Amino acid sequence: MKFPLPASLLALAASAVQAQVPQNQTGPFFLHITGKDNKTIDGYGGACHAGAAIEGLCFDNGPKPDGEHLNYGSFFFNYTGDQDVGGSEVGTLSWHLQLAGGDPAFVPSPMSFSFPTTSNVAPPMFGTSSSTGGQPVGFDKDGKLFAYGYLDDSTFKPGVPPNPSDAPKAYYNWFVCWQSLGAYYYHSVGWATSLPPHNPTCEAVDITQVMV
Ligand SMILES: *[C@@H]1O[C@H](CO)[C@@H](O)[C@H](O)[C@H]1NC(C)=O
Ligand SMILES: *[C@@H]1O[C@H](CO)[C@@H](O)[C@H](O)[C@H]1NC(C)=O
Ligand SMILES: *[C@@H]1O[C@H](CO)[C@@H](O)[C@H](O)[C@H]1NC(C)=O
Repeated sequence: MKFPLPASLLALAASAVQAQVPQNQTGPFFLHITGKDNKTIDGYGGACHAGAAIEGLCFDNGPKPDGEHLNYGSFFFNYTGDQDVGGSEVGTLSWHLQLAGGDPAFVPSPMSFSFPTTSNVAPPMFGTSSSTGGQPVGFDKDGKLFAYGYLDDSTFKPGVPPNPSDAPKAYYNWFVCWQSLGAYYYHSVGWATSLPPHNPTCEAVDITQVMV
């Protein structure tokens, strides 16, 4: 049996797909990664090679790398102003892939989650192919990175269509885990679609924007 989704939710989905110009951009910034429970986790996120023009978000424990370091201090946030979550703009996180001596000098690489078949931990990946438009995310008033949603399927009941909340809810399910990204095995950031994460190496973290 099939139930139509509420029109409001379909409209939201359509607007997410169409959200294009004009865009405001903030950055460049670093991504400071700190353990929620394990306070020895205190470092920065950097783009790490996972395939041709595809990068994961790797974790390096330790002090902030030099501002010129292109893997770290080269993140940007684009938003249209069309939507906010709890007063914070939502948009696209991207990393600038530098082209050696190239014109243009860089290619923006939007972040999207790579949803695996056999885990609930999706690594954020940066790629120059922006056909998906990137995963919508935002930074809250404390500069903490969040993703958001309207539905919680853990509350679903048989035959009762869900009533999406008008106000999207921010989630902060970030982890640092040992993960396979392409042919590499990296200590890197993952997003848990549900809790707890399936991967036993994952440790809960916050990701905070630090302007260069
Ligand atoms: C972000 O916005 C800037 C300025 O409008 C634009 O040049 C750039 O292409 C945008 N990046 C992405 C990933 O959409
Ligand atoms: C805290 O994190 C560090 C770095 O990932 C790890 O070596 C250590 O085992 C963790 N400690 C606990 C109590 O989980
Ligand atoms: C984008 O930036 C311009 C210039 O700073 C500003 O006037 C405008 O309000 C901004 N738009 C949004 C949606 O924040």
